[in-house]
Amino acid sequence: MSETILVVGSGAREHAIARALAHSPECPRLLCFSTVSNPGIVALCSEYGLGSITDPEAVASFARRHGATLAVIGPEAPLATGVADALWAAGVPVVGPKQSLARIESSKGFARGLLARHGISGNPFFQRFASMDGVEKVLAAYDNRHVIKDDGLAGGKGVKVCGDHLLSIQDSLAFCRELVQQGHPFVVEEKLEGEEFSLMSFCDGETLRHMPAVQDHKRAYEGDKGPNTGGMGAYTAAGHKLPFLSDEDIRQAQEINQRVAAALAEECGMPYQGILYGGFMATREGVKLIEYNARFGDPESLNLLTLLESDLVALCRAIVNQTLKDVQAHFSPLASVCKYLVPEGYPDQPRKGDRVLLPADLPKGVTMFLSAVDVKDHILVATGSRTVAVVGVGDNLAEAEARCEEVVRMIPGPFFHRADIGTEQAIARRVEHMKAVRLS
Ligand code: AMP
Ligand code: GLY
Repeated sequence: MSETILVVGSGAREHAIARALAHSPECPRLLCFSTVSNPGIVALCSEYGLGSITDPEAVASFARRHGATLAVIGPEAPLATGVADALWAAGVPVVGPKQSLARIESSKGFARGLLARHGISGNPFFQRFASMDGVEKVLAAYDNRHVIKDDGLAGGKGVKVCGDHLLSIQDSLAFCRELVQQGHPFVVEEKLEGEEFSLMSFCDGETLRHMPAVQDHKRAYEGDKGPNTGGMGAYTAAGHKLPFLSDEDIRQAQEINQRVAAALAEECGMPYQGILYGGFMATREGVKLIEYNARFGDPESLNLLTLLESDLVALCRAIVNQTLKDVQAHFSPLASVCKYLVPEGYPDQPRKGDRVLLPADLPKGVTMFLSAVDVKDHILVATGSRTVAVVGVGDNLAEAEARCEEVVRMIPGPFFHRADIGTEQAIARRVEHMKAVRLS
């Protein structure tokens, strides 16, 4: 029987998921449910429903009405509100963890506590607070080297780092007080020094199939300057390595994911079925955890789903049937570079409504995914967030970067992108930084 697969969400990540599913030899029927319409996904789907993706009943009733046999949840917000639980209850198996398991992303304190309770390596010092009691003492003990995080989902705005957003103990105390006033619990943790990378695994609750390591670029401007964003672009290097990581670093990250999946199954009494995404820092003392996400990374998944050679439908089915031990996840060993084109002013005051003129043909080795765009009077317009992602693939990083850059540059208008992502110079800087950290 051919599958009818529901994709929940409508960014470039969901466009990449829908495209990978559409490329399956099984030719599944695709559905999408989201708050806005993405013309890239519309073109791949037979039904597209609009509504609140965080409303479990709305998503489940759309799935039932259109005969979904499988669902893939893209973003974190529906996972946190129990959309996976509602879909399973409606008889639709889901790639994406149930609400209690999704706390690995929706509660930073839960994620840190899970590692601590199960003796899993990777935690820096951390303490969770719901009031100002004891905060000052911890801030003083980690003076100038702490990070303060809203415990819950805050769309990337809940984390402040010493030396970056926090320039004095007064700044730190003020942020903590603000969180207390809003009734938000928070975590204070030691600031880690090193290079960040993402390691995602397909997970059926027991077996994990790891994806190649990827490096995202969170800062808006070249040279890693400017405000934090959802991610301006990412790269993977040939042979599934990153130039600043050792094989041992990757092994440690894989092991942490493996042990976290087992700990989640034990604590929650049910299998974690979905994508387990560890955000790690390679440090002088080995691999440390920055945070967990309960879904595909964006932009990281744009690189990885472009490189994926195995059938995503078979992988999804193995996740929901808990038969991942019988299925492999193969990725092309080529290098990849992804860059997002974003509106001027992004992320704080993005322009909206500008026309997006896409190249008519894409050269070899280049894929494009649509994100925050809409069609108005038959014209593609930007809606004010990450707009279009371009992924270049090649034998090495230089080739992948050149292919990506050539296409992203072709798109005219009041947009910008980070030309430095994946360049030799930017990567050399990271390798040097990592060398210095390891020697410090
Ligand atoms: P998160 O939302 O947890 O990914 O945090 C956003 C960013 O804050 C991360 O990508 C890191 O750059 C930074 N960050 C978070 N936690 C730490 C930490 N313990 N040490 C250093 N930087 C951190
Ligand atoms: N690339 C960061 C994220 O997906 O959360």
